[in-house]
Amino acid sequence: MDFLIATHNMKKQAELQRILEPLGIRVLTADMAGIDLSDVEETGTTFEENAFLKADSGCKESGMVCVADDSGLSVDYLDGAPGVYSARYSGDHGNDKKNIEKLLGELSGVPTEKRTARFVSAVCCCFPDGRHFTVRGECEGVIAFEEHGSGGFGYDPVFLVGEKTFGELSAEEKDKISHRGNALRKFVEELPKYIGESK
Ligand code: IMP
Repeated sequence: MDFLIATHNMKKQAELQRILEPLGIRVLTADMAGIDLSDVEETGTTFEENAFLKADSGCKESGMVCVADDSGLSVDYLDGAPGVYSARYSGDHGNDKKNIEKLLGELSGVPTEKRTARFVSAVCCCFPDGRHFTVRGECEGVIAFEEHGSGGFGYDPVFLVGEKTFGELSAEEKDKISHRGNALRKFVEELPKYIGESK
């Protein structure tokens, strides 16, 4: 069975493919499937709601089983912000540099012990017959005082897990501990309940 990944974020798309394919799941991007997916307005107030909106829309438009991730960063000192607004925190959607600048500005002068945060990923899978399920993965960390490393995307250069930021990890190192890796491992456990043991 082929799964369609509903995202326009190329970096996220690459992570989803990289993690799911070794687990035996063949995933197609909209380009690979020759489909032009509409932009979905993320009107939900939770990661789970937005993941469903994206997967449901992709499933209805393509007629394929569709997987979507909605993810973001939740900073304790900022009462969970930027949360579902992570991609558009600075007001300029998808501008990682500006989003990081805004985050570091909001945390200016805040000491390390108060800079705790977590990345969250909700992954939803929608089937053409109307069934769907959603799983959630998290990864705990601390917001650094400045950017380190150039790997990954989004807030990776300022998200510290231990001594290193996600931006300093290899793709494989990030996948082992990341929110998305954790969500997708749960996804693979859940999937057989919906499609039987054969993937
Ligand atoms: P979405 O496409 O609406 O789910 O937006 C997710 C946003 O959360 C991204 O644009 C990033 O700013 C942030 N984000 C989610 N996952 C990651 C990650 O693995 N690393 C860094 N930033 C992430």
